[in-house]
Amino acid sequence: MSEFTRREFVKKATAATAITATTLPVWAIPEKRDPVKIGLIGCGGRGTGAANQSLTANADAVIWAMGDAFQDRLTSSADTLKNEQGDRAVVPMERRFVGFNAFQQVIDSGVDMVILTTPPHFRPEHLAAAVKAKKHVFCEKPMAVDGTGVRSVIESAKLAKENDTNLMSGFCWRYAPAMRATYGHLLGGSIGDIRSVFATYYTAPLWTKARKESWSDMEWQMRNWVHFDWLGGDHIVEQACHSVDKINWAMNNATPITATAIGGREMREGPESGNVFDHFGVVYEYEDGRRAQLHCRQMPFCYNDNNDYIVGSTGTCTVNSWTGSPEIVGPTPWEYTGEKPNMYQVEHNELHDAIRGNRATINDGHFMAQSTMMAILGREAAYTGQKVAYNDALNSTTHLGPSKYEFGELATPPIPEPGETKLNR
Ligand SMILES: NC(=O)c1ccc[n+]([C@@H]2O[C@H](COP(=O)([O-])OP(=O)(O)OC[C@H]3O[C@@H](n4cnc5c(N)ncnc54)[C@H](O)[C@@H]3O)[C@@H](O)[C@H]2O)c1
Repeated sequence: MSEFTRREFVKKATAATAITATTLPVWAIPEKRDPVKIGLIGCGGRGTGAANQSLTANADAVIWAMGDAFQDRLTSSADTLKNEQGDRAVVPMERRFVGFNAFQQVIDSGVDMVILTTPPHFRPEHLAAAVKAKKHVFCEKPMAVDGTGVRSVIESAKLAKENDTNLMSGFCWRYAPAMRATYGHLLGGSIGDIRSVFATYYTAPLWTKARKESWSDMEWQMRNWVHFDWLGGDHIVEQACHSVDKINWAMNNATPITATAIGGREMREGPESGNVFDHFGVVYEYEDGRRAQLHCRQMPFCYNDNNDYIVGSTGTCTVNSWTGSPEIVGPTPWEYTGEKPNMYQVEHNELHDAIRGNRATINDGHFMAQSTMMAILGREAAYTGQKVAYNDALNSTTHLGPSKYEFGELATPPIPEPGETKLNR
């Protein structure tokens, strides 16, 4: 059978088994469930975690192939997965791929599903290839680092819908039961009409990997991808996109028309800090005059906060992302008292249920593309110092990063200068 036909068979046969096992003639019940073959593309911290969660979600799943730009990252992920999951996670050497084309080799290796967890720069290309090959996809946030990438992601999401393949994003708060209940309450009118949202993502800086003599510029930048706008999108896109996604959720996925922003580098210095900013403040403006604001900061020794402060016409809600405990104040106070399972595990439980046909096909395309684009819009408003229209940022011709992927010389991109940096550059 072709891969797609085989997958359809797995899905339909399993659904049939689940729903009508007692009524089907014996010949129609598959003796054993086919394994769901997973390909891991980007074998770092999150990819290894997601692969682990996928295996935990589905006893019939196996890690079939692995791909990474670097051998050492792949080997260390393979060792961790073997220790944690045993034989189902052991990938033979011939299906371990290294280099810039590893993603395609994984996709072509006979997998049913891929986990896309490289730095976000590569996501649009990897997603397009996976969806074109009719694979189910779990892809981490953010989905891209520029409007060019988001346009590609929008096309991939459409194609996944046409193909009826699953497309799940790593905007994990959308899968946290406490958050689902909270945003369900808010959008159901529990604090009246939502008038504004202010979200914070104040944290310390992330890691830095000291440069080795043997590393080319390209390797050094890729191993330190969070410090380079072309690889990670800057921290507003790479980290605070979770808060942007919750703004988007509270605004019922309405598209903002413009953003204005401030931002800069107050404390980052030296080549190891690449070209990214360390703080941003963004105001998103909506068609109906509402505004939403985002502050994010990566500075050491400062006050940390990751909250969404939502103001409605009859009450307020504060959502603490780290504790997952919302506090609604108003005429109908409400508290979340349900379970708080690991949201990363919930993602994979639901994805595997959908792959097995036990629930509707998942397609996170709309919000995952829009939340990523809103974060990019905020960054562009800060980088350029201009009021930027959402559609102009989405349709920008900017494609961050080198035109060719190869290990060798690569200058650190310039630090953006508000008032000088252009939207199309
Ligand atoms: N949802 C969440 O809470 C959450 C948490 C952590 C990370 N993430 C996201 O997951 C992604 C990965 O983050 P991470 O923390 O695992 O980073 P990481 O550096 O640990 O892992 C990235 C891996 O991708 C590999 N890689 C780089 N370029 C590649 C390419 N072109 N082809 C194949 N492999 C390539 C790297 O060598 C590395 O092993 C990011 O988009 C990040 O924002 C999400």
